[in-house]
Amino acid sequence: MGQTILVTGGAGFIGSNLIRFIMQNRPDDRVINLDGLTYAGNLESLAEFTDNPRYEFVHSDISDSEKLDEVMPRVDCVLHLAAESHVDRSIHDPSLFLRTNIIGTQMLLDAFKKHKGKDGRFVYVSTDEVYGELPLDDKSQLFTESTPLKPNSPYAVSKTGGDMLARAYWHTYGMDVCITRCSNNFGPYQFPEKVIPLFVNNLIEGKTVPLYGDGSNIRDWLHVLDHCEAICRVLDDGKSGEAYNIGGNNERSNLELTRMLIELCDRDESAIERVPDRLGHDKRYAIDATKIKRELDWEPTRSAWPEALELTVQWYKDNRAWCDHVRSGEYRRFYEQNYAART
Ligand code: NAD
Ligand code: TYD
Repeated sequence: MGQTILVTGGAGFIGSNLIRFIMQNRPDDRVINLDGLTYAGNLESLAEFTDNPRYEFVHSDISDSEKLDEVMPRVDCVLHLAAESHVDRSIHDPSLFLRTNIIGTQMLLDAFKKHKGKDGRFVYVSTDEVYGELPLDDKSQLFTESTPLKPNSPYAVSKTGGDMLARAYWHTYGMDVCITRCSNNFGPYQFPEKVIPLFVNNLIEGKTVPLYGDGSNIRDWLHVLDHCEAICRVLDDGKSGEAYNIGGNNERSNLELTRMLIELCDRDESAIERVPDRLGHDKRYAIDATKIKRELDWEPTRSAWPEALELTVQWYKDNRAWCDHVRSGEYRRFYEQNYAART
């Protein structure tokens, strides 16, 4: 029997890929996409489902308890992705991050507790950034699920607050909660403030790319569809109260990434503009994902470079209108024409 899955943040990068993944791979399930449509939410990413009877969009903030009272009784489980997600913005102004990522998560958990109690699973999509950073000079060190949480940026702190709250609702109220902690995602429909789409857009448009510091910082790159598959695996078979690391086995320095993008976009090294480093810039993230492989038989199959990066770059080359709309605010017209006008 299918279930009704509430995806929060479904108009964002990972959420829209996740909804497409569910619609294509879980034909018995229905999706309710609850999203507040901040600057990062673009319903054009899900245009093909606008009139699909298995899909419904609810325009709401995750802390709007009246809206949540209407929606929660109709759902079986929650995949919670809605968040302020950009580290640089959090350094500039942390307050919205704490409001959305901590208080918003608490409001959502409360609504789920009120209407579903222990009946139905709540998956909190967290991040490897809750663990802090690893040194660059000892590649044997990896984040495991028992690595102490030591978040460094305001974004990471806000995600850690949500992560720990989700666990507390399991511990305190006996709710069925799982947590996923993934590494940096890449793929289509990512807002062009994050490094890969930002650099690809700049390179295509003949501009320079702002590389922070010396470019030695390392990230583990995970294809968004590998991530979506892992989230569904945790929804179906994860153990209640547990956290699962999700990684791409794909560690790269920012300089290495930049050079690959330059090659894929037919530019040369003069496109690199060295800019001052991000404040408190985490050096290295690297994931030990043996737990999810051992317990849920998941491992990445779509994340290998250069192939997966090449396909992603091609997607941004082929979808200039999406990039222009989401950067210019033009994406709001799609919402007004297809949703706001109907209500
Ligand atoms: P995103 O910024 O692309 O999308 C966030 C979505 O949440 C947007 O559609 C936005 O409109 C919505 N939203 C924001 N505040 C809201 C609110 N108060 N109420 C309702 N909706 C709201 O983010 P993303 O990259 O897709 O990330 C999704 C989740 O995955 C986040 O929780 C993020 O912390 C986590 N995550 C992302 C990555 C990554 O590499 N992108 C890595 C690890 C974890
Ligand atoms: P980002 O995509 O913001 O993800 P996160 O901060 O969550 O890892 O950044 C990825 C890496 O790229 C990070 O080490 C910072 C670096 N970076 C740049 O060098 N220049 C940029 O303009 C941006 C946005 C990021």
